[in-house]
Amino acid sequence: MERTPEFFAGKGIKVGIIGCGYVGLPLALRFADVGQRVTGFDLDQPKIDKLNAGQSYIQHIPAEKIKTHVDANHFDATSNFTRLRDMDAVLICVPTPLDERREPDLSYVENTAKAIAPNLQRNQLIVLESTTYPGTTEELVLPILEKSALRCPIAVGAAAENIATDFYLAFSPEREDPGNKQFGLAQIPKVVGGVNPASARAAAGLYAQIVSKVIPVSSTRAAEMVKLLENIFRCVNIALVNELKQLCLRMNLDIFEIIDSAATKPFGFMPFYPGPGLGGHCIPVDPYYLSWKAREYDFATRFIELAGEVNTAMPYHVVGAVAAALNERKKAIKGSKILLLGVAYKKDVDDLRESPSLKLLELLTARGAVLDYNDPYFAALHKMRHYDFSNMRSVDLSRESLASYDCVLIATDHSSYDYDAIARDANLVIDTRNATRRVKQNREKIVNC
Ligand SMILES: NC(=O)c1ccc[n+]([C@@H]2O[C@H](COP(=O)([O-])OP(=O)(O)OC[C@H]3O[C@@H](n4cnc5c(N)ncnc54)[C@H](O)[C@@H]3O)[C@@H](O)[C@H]2O)c1
Repeated sequence: MERTPEFFAGKGIKVGIIGCGYVGLPLALRFADVGQRVTGFDLDQPKIDKLNAGQSYIQHIPAEKIKTHVDANHFDATSNFTRLRDMDAVLICVPTPLDERREPDLSYVENTAKAIAPNLQRNQLIVLESTTYPGTTEELVLPILEKSALRCPIAVGAAAENIATDFYLAFSPEREDPGNKQFGLAQIPKVVGGVNPASARAAAGLYAQIVSKVIPVSSTRAAEMVKLLENIFRCVNIALVNELKQLCLRMNLDIFEIIDSAATKPFGFMPFYPGPGLGGHCIPVDPYYLSWKAREYDFATRFIELAGEVNTAMPYHVVGAVAAALNERKKAIKGSKILLLGVAYKKDVDDLRESPSLKLLELLTARGAVLDYNDPYFAALHKMRHYDFSNMRSVDLSRESLASYDCVLIATDHSSYDYDAIARDANLVIDTRNATRRVKQNREKIVNC
């Protein structure tokens, strides 16, 4: 059957997902859920082997789900990119980090486009999902794909409605919120922009099969900007409450009481909560993709810079609070035994990318603290891009172990922690997340910061 844009709204579509990580794997499984045949492409052979064996490597994705689809021949994984030729649609979900100079590192996207180009087929649909600056799909991905000699003209608006295209190219940002039980992929509307109207229709038809609602926008650049607006909105609002938290501490006000009370206003307010700093793969990273691109237009993105400044300073604020609380007890950070609770960047996830806990470990170690950590999701730490804590293992939490530290620092408020017991057994608790709000006894040992 000829792959017209309408073809992608039908059954029996072969979907290839490049990058089987936090975004790509759930997306692959969702397409398999609705009966499409899905192939995951990745460079990481151990991941591919696990997937084909029906195993999971992401805590909130159950192995049974993968196994069911593998057994039913709805899903398999491979590193053989020549198999891209057999796909009807190819969705790109590879990382978009920052480099050492905090500038966009698009090498993963570029390499992926280069891997697709020699395998590109007439009327295939290619969609970029990775978060990136406006212009990436048209300026970076499209020219590489067109090296195949197939063409996908950039054309927007009604006049371009029937323009011919050899393949379809679109951008649709992922909105995955790992661990969110209320909103799974199927419930989250998906924004879609095409390089031309046929591409937009093809991508919209495909995604309509897996999400409750597709939101078409006028171009790939608009779709790219939508995702950045969403993440910058979070970044700026988190910075706002992080700053107000520090003022509230000086004014002896409880910022959490204030936020929760303000959130009772039924319109015009959305609660954001302060913490020890920004974490995760997206919020601390994505805004800088826009700042970087804005420079091309002689434009300074001041909100982004200011939010970055406030959020980056938060781990230093926490270290200051630890120093002050130890000082009250006639102790110094140097030589004090400190137990950090939670290395994941947010509660109940097994993801520590950009986690402020890592910065806290680094800063406290540099000041001479004797550090341990506990995290139910990380039995040990490994070498990372910016940090090397590969000698650290999660310590057990017991009455004796908690009592053996000068200070217990709650960096991540995992639900499984028994905060009453922590306050009872620890000598001093520094709480960066208001995790101990329901603890009634031993409050004199708790310092909110
Ligand atoms: N994690 C999230 O919650 C989230 C949410 C929304 C958007 N995003 C965006 O989605 C994109 C992917 O993020 P992620 O969290 O899934 O990353 P990830 O690191 O979990 O997964 C990326 C996968 O891509 C693979 N990969 C890298 N280069 C490849 C290549 N050239 N060919 C094939 N596979 C390759 C890696 O081995 C890895 O398995 C990023 O742009 C990110 O900003 C992430």
